[in-house]
Amino acid sequence: QGDVFTYDPGFTSTASCESTITFIDGDKGELLHRGYPIDQLAEKSHFLEVCYLLLYGELPTAAQLEDFESRVTNHTMIHEQMHNFFRGFRRDAHPMATMVGVVGAMSAFYHDSTDIADPWQREVASIRLIAKMPTIAAMAYKYSIGQPFVYPRNDLDYASNFLRMCFSVPAEEYHVDPVLSRAMDRIFTLHADHEQNASTSTVRLASSSGANPFACIAAGIACLWGPAHGGANQACLEMLREIGTVDRIPEYIARAKDKDDPFRLMGFGHRVYKNFDPRAKVMKKSADEVLDLLGIENNPTLQVAKELEKVATEDEYFIEKKLYPNVDFYSGIILDAMGFPTSMFTPIFALSRTVGWISQWKEMLTDPTQRIGRPRQLYTGAPYRDYVEVEDR
Ligand code: SDX
Repeated sequence: QGDVFTYDPGFTSTASCESTITFIDGDKGELLHRGYPIDQLAEKSHFLEVCYLLLYGELPTAAQLEDFESRVTNHTMIHEQMHNFFRGFRRDAHPMATMVGVVGAMSAFYHDSTDIADPWQREVASIRLIAKMPTIAAMAYKYSIGQPFVYPRNDLDYASNFLRMCFSVPAEEYHVDPVLSRAMDRIFTLHADHEQNASTSTVRLASSSGANPFACIAAGIACLWGPAHGGANQACLEMLREIGTVDRIPEYIARAKDKDDPFRLMGFGHRVYKNFDPRAKVMKKSADEVLDLLGIENNPTLQVAKELEKVATEDEYFIEKKLYPNVDFYSGIILDAMGFPTSMFTPIFALSRTVGWISQWKEMLTDPTQRIGRPRQLYTGAPYRDYVEVEDR
């Protein structure tokens, strides 16, 4: 619990916690949620069932799943007064800015689920956050494009509800294609949790002070926004578009290798996976299915992505550095094909990861040995010295 290792520049944090939720083997490219491999969950399960697994530790019975899905479905609306929050932002605000603000403000509207010492309130906060995140993300999108908000419907599944809230307009109902809904649900599942990544560690650290769950999840959203973390899916698609054609790939490969060039190949590399990211394999298959359905299998961005993946993974430098496509490499292509702007890619990641943040938050709060987080440092500054008057400096 927070053992301080002897300082090693290559190891920049203390061992922070024990957890039973997610296991990653970076060398084998293995990702397990409560013991179940991610590729099986992505193929055979669906997001709300994975939410139940992450939150409660076991796959639900049919009755447990029905009850859980009903509780989530019946919490998807947000307090009507919260609509004013969206209108306080500039139209061109990034949807992540809106999400950080609105989620952080939820404690002002749902103060009957902010007492983290009360197990019932923790449960209600968990359900509310999982249920309302798609509504908030969709409203952030609608506000950014000047369209009216679309209310959630109880007769739609989680992914279909989100797509409809994003793409329906009063003049024309959006009919969700089951292939797109399945692909959306799979993206949610693939992003649900990932052990002690930067944003999850942020949520744990914020929660260790006793802050309310909504403020802690807002802190996680803020951390996820960065291009090295959850912002990579937006940065990756923008990079693929900038490359534009396969004949320009060598130029970008050379830049990624150039020590003096800060450019990095977005969607490549990982803090833990030093072989391949199992989520990227599933995402690649999903990208093919979606683009086939939409008849854009010749999508130039996808062609550049496939050729870039081939060239980079056969390149000595990337092999030596163990740089392979990660979860963000293909997700942007799918979301772009669905009609989302790049600014919505990270909000969708945040929507998915909320269950992971909440599961880790609950685990931490129920650990009696857990204390306030206090990462240590190695001080390398000036030694003790007395104050010097300004005239003597
Ligand atoms: C996510 O932690 C998680 O679990 C995160 C995540 C999750 O689900 O929560 O998996 C989601 O954040 C995935 C990562 C998304 N980010 C990107 O795709 C941005 C591009 N990737 C890089 O910024 C980078 O790979 C990181 C931030 C992901 C990891 O950085 P590290 O830990 O510094 O990578 P490394 O130690 O493996 O790097 C080894 C070498 C370094 O060079 P040297 O110092 O040895 O000379 O490879 C270089 C790095 O500079 N390198 C890259 C590179 N990534 C690392 N060079 C070119 N392009 C890249 N993408």
